[in-house]
Amino acid sequence: MATIAEFTDPRLVAIYDTMNPYSADAQPGFYSQLAAEVGAASIVDLGCGTGLITCELARQGYQLIGVDPAPAMLDIARRRCSDRVRWIDGDASRLGTPNAGLAIMTGHVAQFFITDASWHAALTSLAAALRPGGRLAFESRNPGAREWEDWSRDARWSADDPNAGRVETWTEVHDVRDGIITCTGHYAFAATGAELVSPTKLRFRTERELTQSLADAGFAVEREYGDWDRRPVGPTTRELIVVAATADVERRRTAAMVEVAPIDPAHPHARYCISEYFSELDRRFDTGFDPARSIPANEEELRLPAGLLVVATLRGEPIGSGALKFHDNEPAEIKRMWVAESARGLGLGRRILRELEEHAAKHGARPFDSKRTRLWSKRSASIDPRATARSPLSTMSLTRTTGSKSRSATERQSEVMRPLSGPARPAVAAPTRAAASSPSGPRRPSARRSCRFRFGPRRTHRPACAFRLAGGP
Ligand SMILES: C[S@@+](CC[C@H](N)C(=O)[O-])C[C@H]1O[C@@H](n2cnc3c(N)ncnc32)[C@H](O)[C@@H]1O
Repeated sequence: MATIAEFTDPRLVAIYDTMNPYSADAQPGFYSQLAAEVGAASIVDLGCGTGLITCELARQGYQLIGVDPAPAMLDIARRRCSDRVRWIDGDASRLGTPNAGLAIMTGHVAQFFITDASWHAALTSLAAALRPGGRLAFESRNPGAREWEDWSRDARWSADDPNAGRVETWTEVHDVRDGIITCTGHYAFAATGAELVSPTKLRFRTERELTQSLADAGFAVEREYGDWDRRPVGPTTRELIVVAATADVERRRTAAMVEVAPIDPAHPHARYCISEYFSELDRRFDTGFDPARSIPANEEELRLPAGLLVVATLRGEPIGSGALKFHDNEPAEIKRMWVAESARGLGLGRRILRELEEHAAKHGARPFDSKRTRLWSKRSASIDPRATARSPLSTMSLTRTTGSKSRSATERQSEVMRPLSGPARPAVAAPTRAAASSPSGPRRPSARRSCRFRFGPRRTHRPACAFRLAGGP
């Protein structure tokens, strides 16, 4: 963590709570209601700071783990409460696996992770700290609201600290680039005339970036809100408040261990997969399945240059297969797509298809798009007439094919060219709300929106880099 004076300089840490008051209906209300909703018994608070929210949740009866890399902040937290809280000096890597039901990052902590790598590392540690089905919730300022435009030397406010007296504060923005705001918080102490500064960088991630980064760490976004009153996210709503679930963390971990690679069709793993493929077809069709009636794909035909076979393995065990048969001037065929029952739901079918698609391209096939299907054609741009005349089963549905009892016998036995369906090739994503309104997007008419700071009249505006303006730090 870059050293940020606001969290490390004892003179600034001492006034932190005065300068960063929370409104009960913002973060404190939201996170305590959420804890009740998700039925969490234990909660991790990453970047807990002075423990304002940590101690409030502990007071409500939850078991808390408060983690923060700034010892001076944590000292205040420790003095604030000790019952039902374990305080940890450090970052997310110190969390371990406490099996918590909820993890939170309050006060825009998420924005202090400037690099993708540090953000990913924190999310991965949080995923490991949660029990299966546990939730992660945090807020990040919506770049579409362009809040930094309210931060300036002229937007000052002040507060009276019981010890330090009156402190005036404002924030200067130096640079806005690639979603990172470089700014400096200023603190002018009326009693001593001292002025302290706290230079900071803050990362403003779009809704799309947050969703993607969460998915990369094994989380699925469950809900999103645009503000503390739980309104939906809009292009310029102030917050991106995210609740994500770890439901498929285990699944993703397992999926990450799967290897998909070409293999000789005579290899025992290849033979095993093909025999399982036929057994399953036989089991699933009312009248059984006779391989002799299907389009052949013997071992020679699945060996280069005639074809190719890939096998997926998990911890050395074969769990799926897929093959290609090349035809001169004819579309290539996908064959022997099979995923073991125990491995379904890992996205393996998609992965095998992607692998086959890459191999097909490497060996001279090229994609052919029609309105409804995408076919692989080797040295030919023509659509295979068989594919349209016969049941155009999608390759993705091949594993499902084995479960379809309602198809005709011809359909069931036809292993014609399968049009590759969507997931095999990344689609162009539609812009999200936040992406559509990110910095170049619409702006609010006036910088006076800074008067939304809720603590008293307009003069108590504190736009800062760590700031509790508009509902918290
Ligand atoms: C704005 S404060 C919020 C404190 C507290 N969550 C609250 O709501 O009052 C941000 C906190 O994030 C902590 N922080 C900064 N970088 C961090 C990191 N890499 N990992 C964990 N915490 C971090 C800081 O030390 C600071 O206490």
